[in-house]
Amino acid sequence: MVGHVGPKKDLLQMKGKELDIEHYRLTEEPFYEEVSGEVGLVTIAAENRMPVMLKGPTGCGKTRFVQYMAYRLGRPLITVACHEDLTATDLVGRYLLKGEETVWMDGPLTLGVKHGAIVYLDEIVEARKDTTVIIHPLSDDRRFLPIEKRGQMIEAVDEFMLIISYNPGYQSVLKELKQSTKQRFLAVEFSYPPQEIETRIIEHEAKVSKEMAQQLVKLGGKVRNLRNHGLEEGVSTRLLIYAGSLMQQGVVPERACDAAVTQPITDDPDMQRSIQELVKAIF
Ligand SMILES: Nc1ncnc2c1ncn2[C@@H]1O[C@H](COP(=O)(O)OP(=O)(O)OP(=O)(O)O)[C@@H](O)[C@H]1O
Ligand SMILES: [Mg+2]
Repeated sequence: MVGHVGPKKDLLQMKGKELDIEHYRLTEEPFYEEVSGEVGLVTIAAENRMPVMLKGPTGCGKTRFVQYMAYRLGRPLITVACHEDLTATDLVGRYLLKGEETVWMDGPLTLGVKHGAIVYLDEIVEARKDTTVIIHPLSDDRRFLPIEKRGQMIEAVDEFMLIISYNPGYQSVLKELKQSTKQRFLAVEFSYPPQEIETRIIEHEAKVSKEMAQQLVKLGGKVRNLRNHGLEEGVSTRLLIYAGSLMQQGVVPERACDAAVTQPITDDPDMQRSIQELVKAIF
């Protein structure tokens, strides 16, 4: 996927090759259905150099939205999937041995700060605490990045934009973002799209008929209601698309929904039976 810091690019970096910012430019417009004014809001944020936080459950369009915004704003997109071993060094850069000499390699954040990219830190709470130290001066009006190892401060160019995501739902209190971090970002809340929009998304992404998409959306609504009866998180748009794709390729509805909806979201046999009943009633 364009604009993603994947294994291939990590490998390039390890080999001491400069990351080329042009690799991070999206060449095709991603399909995105706007839900409630988020495009305009984030465009204003981008123009005013404000960092943005995307909040919301898994599979509801955050990543797709960022890709779409990067394309629309004409800025490269550098995505970093945060995990518990991710350090400030991984983001900022490091010295690498190249033959006899050591050379400095910019990390994804430094690259974005210099070249005016959107840097998307996905699941920021997963990253180590030392990352907040570098994110703070970047996400207030100072907009600079300290590069401790080189004794440098670099100022972000105007087009640089920091976007972070997090899912407040299933994170423990320990993993909550600090107020001093949260209160640096404009927040855009994502949730499951309204029926009509979700229908269009499923139609487009799973290449199914409108009728089929409507049935899946109906199932989605009913399953999401089960959250009041002990289901941890509702079914994502992503999973409904998977179910649609399976059916589109000839898998019978019961089997498709079992594989794409019931089994992925719950291990509880009673809850699974309830969902299977819903599937039977709808298809
Ligand atoms: N508003 C939307 N417009 C177009 N496609 C959408 C939209 N919302 C969701 N989708 C579809 O749903 C899929 C899942 O969305 P996405 O990957 O953006 O979720 P996410 O919020 O980033 O999830 P996670 O938190 O797990 O990373 C997308 O690949 C896309 O097909
Ligand atoms: Mg995502």
